[in-house]
Amino acid sequence: MDATEYNGLVLFLDIWFLIMNIFFQLENGKDLEVPRNYDPSLHPFEMPREYTRALNATKLERVFAKPFVAALEGHRDGINCMAKHPKSLSTVLSGACDGEVKIWNLTTRKCTRTVQAHEGFVRGMCVRHCGTSFFTTVYTGVDHHWTDAIFATCGQQVDIWDEQRTSPMQSYTWGVDSISTVKFNPVELILEMRTNALCWNPMEAFIFTAANENYKLYTYDMRRMEVPIRMHTDHVSAVLDVDYSPTGKEFVTASFDKSIRIFPVTSGSSREVYHTQRMQHVTCVRWSSDNKYILCGSDEMNIRIWKANASEKLGLVSPLLLSQNTIH
Ligand SMILES: *[C@@H]1O[C@H](CO)[C@@H](O)[C@H](O)[C@H]1NC(C)=O
Ligand SMILES: *[C@@H]1O[C@H](CO)[C@@H](O)[C@H](O)[C@H]1NC(C)=O
Ligand SMILES: *[C@@H]1O[C@H](CO)[C@@H](O)[C@H](O)[C@H]1NC(C)=O
Repeated sequence: MDATEYNGLVLFLDIWFLIMNIFFQLENGKDLEVPRNYDPSLHPFEMPREYTRALNATKLERVFAKPFVAALEGHRDGINCMAKHPKSLSTVLSGACDGEVKIWNLTTRKCTRTVQAHEGFVRGMCVRHCGTSFFTTVYTGVDHHWTDAIFATCGQQVDIWDEQRTSPMQSYTWGVDSISTVKFNPVELILEMRTNALCWNPMEAFIFTAANENYKLYTYDMRRMEVPIRMHTDHVSAVLDVDYSPTGKEFVTASFDKSIRIFPVTSGSSREVYHTQRMQHVTCVRWSSDNKYILCGSDEMNIRIWKANASEKLGLVSPLLLSQNTIH
């Protein structure tokens, strides 16, 4: 039984009771209004009953929720990273383990371009701030500056590059073995390390969340780095990627445990978990810039599109999935 059938049934029963009521009243020739005493001591089960009803209603909403929207198929190897386009809502890029990069139009859900970027894994990918081109790397993470023509790569050390030059402008080392992720802060240039992925809160420039190999995520305030503000648990394997919602209130995580989870920033545990039978280890995840969708890429070559709010009705989703929104 799906949601419309269920609603239909409820409506049908409502009308049926209404008709029965009218018949009954007509037969008795008087109003059926029964005086009712609302004294809680006479209705000891009122509260628990209402509570169960509310709980049931919530459960039904969850049962009928259909968070999965669509899958983008086309890669011939596991997907390793994804990048959002800074200017176009309907464009997303994905990089696979065989060195292939695909550019997708989410409106049509079709691949618009395939580029053989490398021989090996595409480990890092970022789009230039003006949106005209993108960078990929084989061994390291990469991120582009939010406004300037510079980008950062990581590996043995963190290097800052000018787009026009072939050697790095600056290099940083921390005496750790290797650095697997690097991200520019939208306000100033700051870098982090050691975790699988990290994401800056788009609304609070000092806050970022790091996805860790030890199944947990940690949210830090840059001004007080000694201790995390909050630890987020629930995943049962390494957390591989994290991305903030554009409102900065929630973030989505991808894990080796074959699921993605949505965490409110202020909560230690997740409000939502998405998985399907066929979905393998999820390597990358992105929250769409219009706050409606979540995209995840996984080992078995699929990019999946999910609703950010599982029980929200998005109306017509096929084929007009996202609208393009070009910022000039
Ligand atoms: C809640 O749902 C259960 C079955 O899931 C049902 O047995 C129970 O009567 C429902 N309670 C209310 C108050 O609707
Ligand atoms: C995606 O496809 C739609 C429909 O064909 C088109 O209007 C839109 O311009 C395309 N978007 C991009 C970024 O190419
Ligand atoms: C999700 O959508 C439902 C239905 O539109 C709404 O009642 C609920 O508040 C939304 N939840 C969140 C977390 O936005």
